[in-house]
Amino acid sequence: MKIIAIVGSPRKGGNCDTLVNQFIDKVDGDVDLYYLNDLDMNYCDACLSCQKGECIKDDDLNKLTTEMLDADYLIFSTPIWFGEMSAQAKTFVDRFYQVAQNPDKSFEGMKVINIVTQANPADLFNKYADNWKILPYGHLGMEVVDTVIAKTGPSKGDKKVLAEAIEKLEKLAENI
Ligand SMILES: Cc1cc2nc3c(=O)[nH]c(=O)nc-3n(C[C@H](O)[C@H](O)[C@H](O)COP(=O)(O)O)c2cc1C
Repeated sequence: MKIIAIVGSPRKGGNCDTLVNQFIDKVDGDVDLYYLNDLDMNYCDACLSCQKGECIKDDDLNKLTTEMLDADYLIFSTPIWFGEMSAQAKTFVDRFYQVAQNPDKSFEGMKVINIVTQANPADLFNKYADNWKILPYGHLGMEVVDTVIAKTGPSKGDKKVLAEAIEKLEKLAENI
């Protein structure tokens, strides 16, 4: 089983990083872990070259998107930044357009586990994250298995604060 794991926060040792690695520690499969902030990433230019063939961007995100084509699972983590996913995470997701627009490419059947971290203790972003079932994932034929939301306050990578999310992720990891 091929698993692509994405840390969408720039904070090494932060909440997304800790949760993704807790999942990886328990899962049985070939995992490729990417820290988006370390990658050579460019925005989608909406040039639509992908409709005629390949994305013209010669960067790490192009390689990563291509690598995802035969992945079974995407583990996608992002902090909430001003009510949405991080800029790094959004840049990654926007580059899926090269798959959406090219009939020779597909993410069909890929399963997704989302990990969302937020400081705010209220259920403010559940609906936002739930909508990813439709866009981007549903649109691309991907299936969301679960979305784990961790409410962290101001903490960074504190396993006591993350305990509930860790428990959920370990169960998910053991069952895939
Ligand atoms: C630029 C920025 C914007 C943020 N906006 C929000 C927000 O709108 N709501 C919220 O609950 N937390 C917000 N936070 C806090 C982070 O989501 C929270 O600390 C999260 O746990 C960080 O995860 P990380 O350690 O993986 O980066 C923001 C943090 C930053 C740096």
